Amino acid sequence: MSKSILREIGKRIYGEASSKIIKSMDVIGDIAIIKLPHELLDERRFIFGREVLKELKYINVVLRQRTPVEGLLRIRRFEHIAGENRTETIYKEYGAIFRVDVERVYFSPRLSNERLRISRLVSDGETVVNMFAGVGPYSILIARKVDNAVIHSIDINPVAIEYHLANNILNKVTDKIITYRGDAKEIIIKYLSSTADRVLMPLPEYALQYLEYALHALKNKGYMHVYLHVKYEENREEALTRSREIILRELGERGYRVVEIDSHPVREVATRLLQVCVDAYIRKI
Ligand SMILES: C[S@@+](CC[C@H](N)C(=O)[O-])C[C@H]1O[C@@H](n2cnc3c(N)ncnc32)[C@H](O)[C@@H]1O
Repeated sequence: MSKSILREIGKRIYGEASSKIIKSMDVIGDIAIIKLPHELLDERRFIFGREVLKELKYINVVLRQRTPVEGLLRIRRFEHIAGENRTETIYKEYGAIFRVDVERVYFSPRLSNERLRISRLVSDGETVVNMFAGVGPYSILIARKVDNAVIHSIDINPVAIEYHLANNILNKVTDKIITYRGDAKEIIIKYLSSTADRVLMPLPEYALQYLEYALHALKNKGYMHVYLHVKYEENREEALTRSREIILRELGERGYRVVEIDSHPVREVATRLLQVCVDAYIRKI
């Protein structure tokens, strides 16, 4: 995305206030998503949308985000402000391709580096359980990269699972991914006890509540990647340290030995609130 062009359009239409808008603009495939503060919610948004379409030839739809990402399904609502009136698009990431409806499923391009990082940690032949898979970006990146991997990919949103299945086909990974629609805890108890070498938990809001099901899915030893939102006062190190302490405590209480633990900053989700991924290699005592 050409940030300088966007900044230019923003300045022309909104003057100095434009810097806020540009910072929070997402591009998913050919859809541009903007957020506008209340005071800028006037007719100018349609002009802004049309200018974006005119200047950025790869954008065909401009949407304004109306609600934050919310609820169990982590979805957000939009207002259409320019271009074709649709919310479905095709998004590409590190050689993989995803069909996604940005209003009916969770999807964020801001996690692409994190997904790549995780996919690089997986070794040949591993069995992975992805408890909160969405349309499949983590699972599909892993399947494309890793020989003989088996990935059990779960999501509770039926629409996300429909897209996940379509994306498995698009990326030619149907032989490596088993896709489940339902609550991760029920699917794990029913089908996936002690199967996984690695468990992914990319849902910070529920990670701790679901930790015992992640442990249920793991073999006697294995890796887990737990995403958390952690506050800090002065610097991000505090959040990184606290996140490790939380996971060490939770695992200790449940009778696990933590052989290795590390924490990585993923992104700032609000002021002084960091999304962190805790990577742990653990053994049952
Ligand atoms: C933050 S999104 C992450 C999606 C995906 N991993 C990604 O990076 O795009 C979390 C996902 O968890 C799903 N979800 C919420 N509660 C769930 C549950 N109890 N069991 C399975 N999936 C759940 C939501 O539908 C949503 O797709």
